[in-house]
Amino acid sequence: MNILLTGGAGYIGSHTCISLIEAGYNVVIVDNLSNSSELVLDRILKITNHMPFFYNIDINDKRALLNVFKKHSIDAVIHLAGLKAVNESILNPEKYYENNVVGTINLVNTMKIFGCKKLVFSSSATVYGVPEAIPLFETAHLKPLNPYGRSKLIVEDFLSDIFTSDNEWKIITLRYFNPVGAHKSGLIGEDPKGIPSNIMPFICQVASKKLERLSIFGNDFNTADGTGIRDFIHIQDLSDAHLRSLENINSVKDHLFLNIGTGKGYSVLQLVETFKKVTSQNIPYIFTDRRDGDIDICYANADKANKFLDWSTSKDLNDMCRDAWRWQLNNPTGYN
Ligand code: UD1
Repeated sequence: MNILLTGGAGYIGSHTCISLIEAGYNVVIVDNLSNSSELVLDRILKITNHMPFFYNIDINDKRALLNVFKKHSIDAVIHLAGLKAVNESILNPEKYYENNVVGTINLVNTMKIFGCKKLVFSSSATVYGVPEAIPLFETAHLKPLNPYGRSKLIVEDFLSDIFTSDNEWKIITLRYFNPVGAHKSGLIGEDPKGIPSNIMPFICQVASKKLERLSIFGNDFNTADGTGIRDFIHIQDLSDAHLRSLENINSVKDHLFLNIGTGKGYSVLQLVETFKKVTSQNIPYIFTDRRDGDIDICYANADKANKFLDWSTSKDLNDMCRDAWRWQLNNPTGYN
């Protein structure tokens, strides 16, 4: 089966690509490399002995996307291409609506032309906004706090309308919690451009002394140690959820929404302490003001995904820290 993986050169995309290749799928990647590197392809080859097809194109380039569908008979699409920086989305909302919303409309239009009606869409727990209750179920209220989150929610609604217009569509939306860690080989991992805004790559760069110390954004949250609690999930467990989605997509009866998390929450301080313990590295930190929009606690109820996908996470916080650190040690400057 031929799977189109948009955003396949990125952090989630590259790990998902490996899961798919190892399960015997042919993978066609389209990626505009805006937040990723072509060098990841050699690493995928090294790990799997297979080179996926790769097109350096933007999903908003209609003609180029059409040509990819003409060239490969695409059976299903995993759509990961999109922008994800919260702050940037506040400063340049039009960029987010254009990439995340218009890009998806263009992709779906192209899929329609070729009669390809199977889609796994990458959404985020960010669509929930401030939780009314914890853990978060898929039925929780949806009130994203920033343009990035709103762009994801608009796409979710758009895909529901696509399904309503034609029930032959099979659509699964995955709402990710906090993906961290790296492939066990240490050959691929998260390679943020500039100073990382997410916690795990920041901790890794402090451990490797690239950055002096971690700023923990707030110690007065409504949690046991005062720092924010998140549902950190190992990137390999997360990429497996994409594989399981493809394998179960034919049984989808409605636009299906699934939380992809471990169902357990750990605080920022617990993460830092675990990282120190498993890597024997020092992580100097200070407490600073809260970051705008950060919430106290966010973790999933993942029962629906566990059941529908016959999937569960197998890696714990120790694995996440160990694997993130291996990637950082082996690749101090990322892919370059
Ligand atoms: C962030 C985004 C979210 C996005 C997700 C995955 C925000 C507000 N949310 O989630 O929309 O889907 O990334 O890309 O940006 N922290 C520190 N110091 C740091 C970095 C983070 O203390 O240098 C803390 C944060 O306050 C938070 C936790 O670590 O409590 C996790 O932060 P982060 O990794 O940025 O993820 P989220 O904010 O949960």
